Amino acid sequence: MTDHGLRTTDYGPKSLRLVLIGPPGAGKGTQAERLAKHFNIPRLTTGDLFRQAIRKETPLGRKVKGILDAGHLVPDEITIALMAERMEQKDCESGFILDGFPRTVGQAEGLKQWLEEKKLKLDSVLAVAISQEEAMARNTGRRQCSHCGAAHHLKFHPPRKEGLCDKCGGALMQRPDDREETVRERWRVYQQQTTPLIPFYQKQGLLQKVDGNRPPEKVFKAICSLIKG
Ligand code: AP5
Repeated sequence: MTDHGLRTTDYGPKSLRLVLIGPPGAGKGTQAERLAKHFNIPRLTTGDLFRQAIRKETPLGRKVKGILDAGHLVPDEITIALMAERMEQKDCESGFILDGFPRTVGQAEGLKQWLEEKKLKLDSVLAVAISQEEAMARNTGRRQCSHCGAAHHLKFHPPRKEGLCDKCGGALMQRPDDREETVRERWRVYQQQTTPLIPFYQKQGLLQKVDGNRPPEKVFKAICSLIKG
C-alpha cells in the first residue's frame, strides 16, 4: 500500500484509460509521469511526440515546427492519426494516460470513435486547473535537458549545477514555446479551443476537476483518490 492509499495492483487485471486536460503549466506532464509509473501504463504525450519529430527532422517534424513555436495547435487530422497509431501499440493493451490529447472537440470525437471501434471506454477525464499567473511562472521558469528531456525549474526545481541536468549532466534549455509571449498565446488557445472539452466530458459523466495550484505530491494524492472513487 502506498501513502496515497492505492496499491498498484488495486486495478488488478483491469485496464485504466485516463485523459489529463489543463492549460500550459497545469502539471499534466508531471502528474502523467507519476501516474504512469504508479499504474504501470504508458503516458502518451502529443507534445513530446511532436517535439521528438522536430528533433529528428522527420516530415511530420518539419510540418509542425512552426505551429509549436507559435503556440498554436497542430491540425486535428494529423494529431488524431498520430495518436491512433500510438494507442494501437502493444504497450497500450492495459491502458494509457493521455497527456495533452484531446485538445479540441474534433479530437475528442476522433478519440471517441477510435474507442468505440476497439470496444473500449475511458475511465476518467481529469481537468487540472491553475491560475494564469501560476502558469506563467511555471512555464517561463521551466528548463528541459537537451539530452534526456528531464524537466527542471529555475525556482521550483533548480538543478544542482547551474545549467546542467541533475539526471545526466546534459545542457538545460528553454523550450521555444516557453517564452512569455508564446505562453500567453498558448493560454489563449487553451481557453478558446480546449475548454469546450469540459462540458463535452461533463455530459458523458467522465469529468473530474482537480486543483493544480498545489505542490505536485498533493495534486497526485488528489488524483489518486478521485480515480479510486
Ligand atoms: P505540450 O507539450 O502538451 O504542452 P502544454 O499542454 O502546453 O503543457 P506543458 O508541457 O507546458 O505543461 P504541463 O501541464 O504538462 O505541465 P508540466 O508538468 O510540464 O504541447 C506543446 C505544443 O504541442 C502545443 O502548444 C501544440 O502546439 C502541440 N500539441 C500538443 N498536443 C496537441 C494536440 N492534442 N493537438 C494539437 N496540437 C498539440 O509542468 C510545467 C512546469 O511546472 C514544470 O517546470 C514543472 O516542474 C512545474 N510544475 C508542475 N507541477 C507543479 C506543481 N504542482 N507545483 C509547482 N511546479 C509545478
